[in-house]
Amino acid sequence: MENEAVQQPASVVTSPTTPSPIMSRRAREINPFRAMVFGEKADTMIAHGIDVIKLSLGEPDFGAPPAVRDAMREQYDGRALPYTAAMGLPELRQAIADFYRDRHDLDIDPKRICVTAGGSAALLLATALTVDPGDDVIVADPSYPCNRELVRSFEGNVIDVPTSAATRFHLNADLCREYWTDRTKAVMITSPSNPTGTTIDFNVLKDVTAFAAEHGAWRIVDETYLDLADREPDGTEVKSVLACDPGAIVCNSFSKFFGMTGWRLGWAILPDDATVLEAVDDLATNYYLCAHTPTQHAALACFTPESLAECEARRQELLARRRIVIDGLKRIGLPVEVEPNGAFYAYFNISRTGLDAWTFCERALEEAHVALTPGRDFGAATANTHVRLSYAASREALSEGLERLGKFVATLES
Ligand SMILES: Cc1ncc(COP(=O)(O)O)c(C=O)c1O
Repeated sequence: MENEAVQQPASVVTSPTTPSPIMSRRAREINPFRAMVFGEKADTMIAHGIDVIKLSLGEPDFGAPPAVRDAMREQYDGRALPYTAAMGLPELRQAIADFYRDRHDLDIDPKRICVTAGGSAALLLATALTVDPGDDVIVADPSYPCNRELVRSFEGNVIDVPTSAATRFHLNADLCREYWTDRTKAVMITSPSNPTGTTIDFNVLKDVTAFAAEHGAWRIVDETYLDLADREPDGTEVKSVLACDPGAIVCNSFSKFFGMTGWRLGWAILPDDATVLEAVDDLATNYYLCAHTPTQHAALACFTPESLAECEARRQELLARRRIVIDGLKRIGLPVEVEPNGAFYAYFNISRTGLDAWTFCERALEEAHVALTPGRDFGAATANTHVRLSYAASREALSEGLERLGKFVATLES
C-alpha cells in the first residue's frame, strides 16, 4: 500500500482546484522575449531531422575555458559550500579589480565590485538601487529588452529614444537633452550593444554621462560585451565608461567573454560611495544572499594567463566570423548599416525585401531553414525593419546560413 501511495503521479495530488489569486501588476504586464519562439521552433524542426542553421542565439558556442571547468569539478569533492559574502568572494572581487587594472588600465577598489548571479542580477541591483515609481529612465531604441522590463518592474517609465545608423544606434547628448524631463533619474546604455553589436563612440559616451551627471541622474552602463569588442572605428581601444565617468554603475558578466552563460556569474562596479555600497550589499542579501559559491571559486581560474589567452583567441575567432557575416550580407544585398565592433551580432535592414522583419524571419526559417531574430523585442524603432543575426556559430554554419539566406532573398526578388 505504502509503495502505491508513493507511485501516485505528483500532479494528481497537487493540481490546484481553485483559480490562483490575482498576480501582481508587474507579473501580469511583463513582456516575454517574443523572439524566443524562433529558437524554439528551430529546435522542434531540428528534432524532426531538419537541418536548421541557428543564427538566433545570444550565447557563444565556446563554453568556459578548460581551467575553469577543472576548477569547478574540484568544488564538488564533498566539501561544504557555504554562502559567500553578499558582495561576493573577496578573492574574486580582487581578481576582477586586477583584470580592470591589467586590461583597461583602471584602478578600481575591490570594495566597489559586487559579484552577482550573471549580468542580469547586476542590472537588477542597479535598477533596484536607482529607480522609484514615476522615475523616467532613458534607453536607446533598439536596445536590450530586459532593461525595459526591469525599469517597469520598479514602476519607472521607460523613455525609449529612437536611434538610427547615424548615431551607431546609440544615444547622444542631444538626444538625451531632447527627451530629458524633470523626472529623469537614469540613463541606461549598453555598449557594445545587443542587438547591433556597435559601441557608443567614447566622446559621445563622455558627453552623455557628463550631461546626465550634471542633471543629477544615474548612469547605468552595461558592458557585458566590452571585452569581446574590436577597436573603435577611429582605431583606438574600446574603453570602459569608468575611463570617463568613475561615478557610473557598470554591469558586466562572465557569460560572453569567458563563455560561461549557464554558470550564472557577473558583476557590478559601483560608485565609491559608502551609502551606495551598503545599500547594494543589503539589496543583494535580501534578494539572493550571494551568487553561486562553487562558480565564484571556479571563476578565479578565468584570470590565469592561459584562460585569458584562450578567451583572447576566441575573441579573434569571433572577429573572423564577423568578416564572413558582413561580407556575406553585403553580397546578398542586405548590408549592415553600421559595422558591429563588439558582441557577436549583425543588425541589418531587410525593408527592401518588401517583408516586415517578423515575416522575414518566419519565412527564412520555414523556407531557408535559417533561424534569425526579428527586431521587435529590441524596441519599436526598428521592429519591422531590422533583423539580428548572431555570429556565435561555426564558420561553416555561417557560410551555409548566408548561402541559404542569399537564395531565399533572391526568391523574394523574383
Ligand atoms: C546586453 C546584455 N546584457 C546582459 C545580459 C545578461 O546576461 P547574463 O545574465 O548571462 O550575464 C545579456 C544576455 O544576453 C545581454 O545581451
